[in-house]
Amino acid sequence: MKPRFRRSKKDPESHKSNESNGKILNPDGIVFATGTTPNLQLEKTAGLHCNQGLVVDPYLRTNDPDIYAIGEVAEHSSGLYGTTGATEDQAKVAAHHIYGYAFDFYKGSVHTNLLKIPKPDLVSLRLADTPMDLSEDNFGKYEEIVFLDRKKRKYKKCIIKADKLVGVILIGDKSDLIEFKNLISSGIELGDTREQLLSGDSSAKKPVLGKLICACNEVGEENLCEEIRNGIKTLEELGKTTEAGTGCGSCRPEVSKILKSNLAMSKQEFAFSRV
Ligand SMILES: Cc1cc2nc3c(=O)[nH]c(=O)nc-3n(C[C@H](O)[C@H](O)[C@H](O)COP(=O)(O)OP(=O)(O)OC[C@H]3O[C@@H](n4cnc5c(N)ncnc54)[C@H](O)[C@@H]3O)c2cc1C
Ligand code: FES
Repeated sequence: MKPRFRRSKKDPESHKSNESNGKILNPDGIVFATGTTPNLQLEKTAGLHCNQGLVVDPYLRTNDPDIYAIGEVAEHSSGLYGTTGATEDQAKVAAHHIYGYAFDFYKGSVHTNLLKIPKPDLVSLRLADTPMDLSEDNFGKYEEIVFLDRKKRKYKKCIIKADKLVGVILIGDKSDLIEFKNLISSGIELGDTREQLLSGDSSAKKPVLGKLICACNEVGEENLCEEIRNGIKTLEELGKTTEAGTGCGSCRPEVSKILKSNLAMSKQEFAFSRV
């Protein structure tokens, strides 16, 4: 079915949807779920190996070793990605290789989907569901651990395989996002950590102060300024103290801008104080 949307001239707040079967719906809201597909016309004409994306090896090289591809156009054996975090992971490996270092190769990034509105918190990391057949392969069997607190409206699900975390769903509380993402990307065995995975105790976080800058980790502009006033001077340090920019990475340019302008301002203040 291909719906067509019309906005009423009389009532701009109302949206009517005309379905192809003739039905007219009056929805309360409209959610668009659209994706992106790489435009591979140029690459195909150039004779590069394309599938759904431009196929790359673990060093992000195409079948022409002088041409690298990263980001949304690149198709690695672990799949196609559509996040800035994955693009940055790939950029690092490609840059090392172009400079002649082959020690680092791309192993894939954690597929992260995060609802970027203040509430409700909703996150999925890599696998959202256990594969239907629940089959056991050479690497082990999938297991699910679920936590539900109806009163506090919190739900967490961890998918584990061979004692490694391979997928997570968080609803109502995303304070464990970074810890879970690190556990998935590092691929370390959980061991005793498994018992604490879904304890339900989320670490107490500072409230968002000022304009929201990092939606992944709920960090506001004033939270950043406070840390800079306390002596933080680099993006990495700011990420460690506030977690800003350590999720999908898309806020990093803005975090960097705030850091630079605050550092410049404190330099000026210092200069004035010595006049
Ligand atoms: C609306 C929207 C919201 C998003 N939100 C998030 C988010 O919250 N978190 C997240 O992680 N990701 C998000 N993404 C995805 C993220 O922006 C992309 O995954 C990321 O930008 C991919 O980087 P890239 O370098 O592959 O492509 P791009 O950032 O698109 O860069 C491609 C560049 O190539 C240039 N270009 C194209 N054709 C040519 C040509 N023929 N010649 C020269 N230059 C050319 C373009 O102008 C562009 O500058 C969002 C994307 C969209 C569209
Ligand atoms: S918005 Fe994703 S890391 Fe900040």
